[in-house]
Amino acid sequence: MRIDIITLFPELLSSPFESSILKRAIASNLVKINFHNLRDYAQNKYKQVDDYQYGGGSGMVIKIEPIDRCINYLKNKNNYEEVIYLTPQGEKLTQKISNKLSLSKNIIIICGHYKGIDQRVRDHLVTKEISIGDFVLSGGELAACILCDSIIRLIPGVLGDETSALSDSFQDQLLSYPIYTRPEKYKNWKVPKILLSGDFKKINSWREKNALEKTKRIRPDLLKN
Ligand code: ADE
Repeated sequence: MRIDIITLFPELLSSPFESSILKRAIASNLVKINFHNLRDYAQNKYKQVDDYQYGGGSGMVIKIEPIDRCINYLKNKNNYEEVIYLTPQGEKLTQKISNKLSLSKNIIIICGHYKGIDQRVRDHLVTKEISIGDFVLSGGELAACILCDSIIRLIPGVLGDETSALSDSFQDQLLSYPIYTRPEKYKNWKVPKILLSGDFKKINSWREKNALEKTKRIRPDLLKN
């Protein structure tokens, strides 16, 4: 998979891809991440990428020309399934969306900043708008890291134990069951006995029951779907 990220602040994006699972996925060529600094696609002398809002109002708006130029450059080299714009006004990110995107060959992600981007980018160039939640970030870069992480870990071969992505929270619309490791007893806090029993049938039904109870308590909305 190839992910091209268009941003004004590439330095905000680099470190999540330099450790752990994402680093290994890149090293194994299971995914290639490319950062494109929007300023490199600005043509005027001052490398201007933003401008005032028509109609007045505070905050600068990212211009259409450098974004269109960057997307054109990429589209001349690759075919893209999606051009994603990260915005709090987008469809809320879910495991279902990440599952689907993880099957793509190439995607482009545009990170907004300041007041946002010219609406014509959204109307004519973007194919999908995604929000990572009902809160406002300073820009799309951190949201892009979250989106990429959630997609990349689903690419076959990225996680050593391929079943472990399948048992993630939300993969079956449930929160994950409680998990424990050694020691068996810490202070007076004990690991549930059943998990030490070796009886996998009983362990599985304990896990299912606990996942369901936890979901009912914390995220009853998940059970309504
Ligand atoms: N940019 C700013 N806030 C955002 C959010 N909640 N999700 C995605 N992109 C954003």
